[in-house]
Amino acid sequence: MKITEAEFVISAVKPHQYPEDGLPEVALAGRSNVGKSSLINKLLTRKALARTSSQPGKTQQLNYYRVNQALYLVDFPGYGYAKVSKTQRQAWGEMIENYLRSRNELKLVLLVIDARHEPSKDDCLMYDWLKHFQIPMSIVVTKADKLPRSKWDKHLKMIKESLGAGREEKVILFSSETGLGREQLWEVIMAESSDKEESV
Ligand code: GTP
Ligand code: MG
Repeated sequence: MKITEAEFVISAVKPHQYPEDGLPEVALAGRSNVGKSSLINKLLTRKALARTSSQPGKTQQLNYYRVNQALYLVDFPGYGYAKVSKTQRQAWGEMIENYLRSRNELKLVLLVIDARHEPSKDDCLMYDWLKHFQIPMSIVVTKADKLPRSKWDKHLKMIKESLGAGREEKVILFSSETGLGREQLWEVIMAESSDKEESV
């Protein structure tokens, strides 16, 4: 995928701030610090368009990035970050839930999971929730570079089983460090965000 244009558009906290041009949207959900913002940078071949940090809790709004005038990647605040106040967590929860349930432009959610660990309780809840509301989802297992290649298969299997994903469900192994999985992920994103438009 060749990126001709990638720009940050808005950090939205309220629905009236969401873009109104009707372009398809692909959202990234996952634990705080799992690597969502880094994944966006890798997809866009930009070093630091999306702000990343070794400290969890960096992304605090719905951050919209427009790609090639064709779609938006929407970076979510991560869940499961203990130092965030209860009130703040509730506010994010509501913002994300409202977005996921009512945003017509949403075509796909990338559920980003750490390759090294068993999915957290929150990961499982998010997975179940997306399934329940029949929101199209792809599981992206990132930080693959932190695992020896010999363990990739075993970890992918463990992650799928833990989430309760079916055998046939596709999982994309990714690394924002090496670019592993980038083309494969773009293929999924393009397929999900374009097909449906035509069939409406
Ligand atoms: P929040 O905004 O807090 O939800 O975090 P996030 O999910 O956006 O994570 P972010 O992209 O900021 O990355 C967190 C840390 O993990 C940073 O120090 C990144 O450099 C590192 N990181 C992210 N992806 C990878 C990866 O694929 N490989 C390696 N080795 N490090 C990564
Ligand atoms: Mg982030």
